[in-house]
Parts: sequence; C-alpha cells; structure tokens
Amino acid sequence: MRPIARLAGVKASASAMLSERAKALRAAGQDVLDLGLGEPDFDTPAHIIEAAHQAAVAGQTRYPPTVGTLALRQAVQDKFARDNQLDFGLDQIIVSNGAKQVIFAALMATLEQDDEVLLVAPYFDSYRNILALLGAQRRVIQPAQNLRLQPHELEAAITPSTRWLLLNSPSNPAGVTYTRQELQALGEVLARHPHVMILADEIYEHIVFSDFCAFASACPALGERIFTVNGVSKAYAMTGWRIGYGAGPAWLIKAMVTVQSQISSGACSIAQAAAAAALNGPQHGVEDFCRAFQHRRDIVMQAIADTPGLSLVRPDGAFYALINCQAWLSDALPDDTAVATALLERHGVAAVPGSTYETAGHFRISTACADERLRDALSRIRAMAEQLQPR
Ligand SMILES: Cc1ncc(COP(=O)(O)O)c(C=O)c1O
Repeated sequence: MRPIARLAGVKASASAMLSERAKALRAAGQDVLDLGLGEPDFDTPAHIIEAAHQAAVAGQTRYPPTVGTLALRQAVQDKFARDNQLDFGLDQIIVSNGAKQVIFAALMATLEQDDEVLLVAPYFDSYRNILALLGAQRRVIQPAQNLRLQPHELEAAITPSTRWLLLNSPSNPAGVTYTRQELQALGEVLARHPHVMILADEIYEHIVFSDFCAFASACPALGERIFTVNGVSKAYAMTGWRIGYGAGPAWLIKAMVTVQSQISSGACSIAQAAAAAALNGPQHGVEDFCRAFQHRRDIVMQAIADTPGLSLVRPDGAFYALINCQAWLSDALPDDTAVATALLERHGVAAVPGSTYETAGHFRISTACADERLRDALSRIRAMAEQLQPR
C-alpha cells in the first residue's frame, strides 16, 4: 500500500515549514521574528468565549446538523443582509470546519478529473493544493498590472473546460481588494460564459482599508453562479475554532452536505455557538483590529519605500504585504526562496517566498505581530538591503 499519486502534487505549506524552522532557530537561542503566519495576533474577544462556555453548559454537545446549526445559519443569513445587502435562504447556507473546508467541499462536490479552475496569481496556496488533491487542473492568470485581474485577461483565460474562477478579495498574500466597478467589469465577462461558476473568497472582508464590495452584491445577475466563502477566523481572531461558512445556490449546498457528511458530519457544535455570538454580537472589536492592521500597513509602506531594491503594491486589505525583491536577485541569491532563507538564517526574519503563491521574485510578510516587532523586522530587512547593495 502507498499514498495515492495525486498526493505528490500537494506541496506542504511554505509558511508552515518556515515557521517550523523559525521555531527551531528560536529554540537554539536565536532572536527570530516570525512574519510567516497568517493569523491575527489578537485574542478571541471575551463575549465569544463566554458564548462557547454557555453552549457547553447548556448541553449543546451532541452531533449538530451536517449543514450547520440553525442558530449559526441564521446569524450568517443576518450577516449577509446587514453587511452585503444579500438575501439568502437557509437552504443556501452551509457551515464547515473553517473556510478552507468550505472551499474543499465546494470543489470536491463539483469538479471532475481534469476540469479546469482559474486562479489569479498571487493566490492563497491551498487553492492549488486542493485542486491537486482532486485531480483538477489549474490555469493561472498572471495579471500584468498591479497584481489585479483585468477583464481582458479573464476573457482570454476562459476555455470550454473552465468550471470555476476563484477570486479572493481582499487577497492573501497581496491585499488586492477589488472595487464594485472592477467586479462589475469582471462580471460582464463572466456573463458571456455561463458555464463558469465564481467562488468569491471574502474571508478578509472586515480587514479592509478602503470600501469593500462582495462579488455577489456587485453582480446580482450572476447570483445563481456565485458561491461566497467567508468565516470567523480572521475577523474575530478565531483561527483555532475552525468555523467558516459559504452561501450560494441551494443545489450546491446540498451537494456539499453530502461531501461534508462523509468528512466530518459538520463542525463542532460549541464552536458554532461561539461563531454565532461573533456574528450577532458587538462589531467594534473588528473595527479595532482593522485599524491596527491599517496602521501596520502604513508602517510597512514607509519602511519599504526607504529600503533599497524593494517595492510593493499598496495592500488595501488583509494583513500581509507582498514585497517585490527582484532587484535583490543575483548569482548568490538566485530566487525568492534563497532570499527568504537568507532573511531567516542571517537576519532572523521569517517570511514566505512569493513562489508559494506563483509570484516569483517576491516575499510575503504578515503584519499580524506587535508594532515594535514589525518595526524591528523591517529594520533587519533594510539591513539586508544595505549589505546587498542591489542594482
Ligand atoms: C484567502 C484565504 N482563504 C481561506 C483561508 C482559510 O481560512 P480558515 O482558517 O477559516 O480555514 C485562508 C487562511 O489563511 C485564506 O488566507
């Protein structure tokens, strides 16, 4: 017996590997700043933890419905109405173990072997790995301008085998956030290709420094073909609770329930109670998180502007910065993996190589760390630049 051949196409997450190496260096006594990981550095707000406690004490400890508890699906329904002016029936909403499982179940339920899915680089690396697991093909669009997908690029990439476009806004790893007008322009292209579904990954919706518009709000005419993914991990600092949700056509939700019933029988009942409290409760904590991330984004913009050989497209959301380091490349540092390795081994800063996101010549830092640590890391990056004297 041996693992299926498709597993060979799944690459271990570079950010997790770097984080392991950073931990090992730290354990060996080195002063390492980890800017690799993608989770908020804040704690889950107290009222959410209290709701979980209450749910456990009240006996919400049995198998929940596979599709998600009624209370959480109602909270999700209310959230879409409140934040995005979108009306979903309860049969159009599913809850899973994190947004990642929502994405997995949607793709597993709809893709046949060799079906094609459009990804826009730089993209969240799990997209590629999920497709590899499912035996589907990815077609990667490399936007020519500012890391943003243009309508003509989308038009040129669609083939008769295309099943999905995966669009993430605000994006991991670059913070690209599409405006309503930009989404509508992409929607006009998609309207001409009714065989393509759109998976709108909006997990960073609440961490945005300009206006946010949901794809489904921008393009109501495409409603039947849009599946919106979101969750509580990032907005409410709840990465460990593992609750994500999705909303879209009822036929898709039904198919996903069949998948989910054989993977996990649904998500933890207590975590679902906590997620309902997060969505229904006060939202000012989310705004505080967002302000903190915007401040750190500004710290990064200033520091990178002052660092020889580096540049970046200004992130308008999420808590990452994808930094262009092409001017640093040389025989000694031939690619972004060599840059990230040197940053870690010589300067004690863990960052993720851009090739992880199919955007070579870049590295990603996360701003989910205290301001002083971020400033310290940025001055180490500058120290590396000064040693390199890039062209
Ligand atoms: C773009 C994107 N989508 C989905 C996820 C998965 O989120 P969750 O923790 O809810 O599974 C992440 C996590 O990093 C992400 O960056």
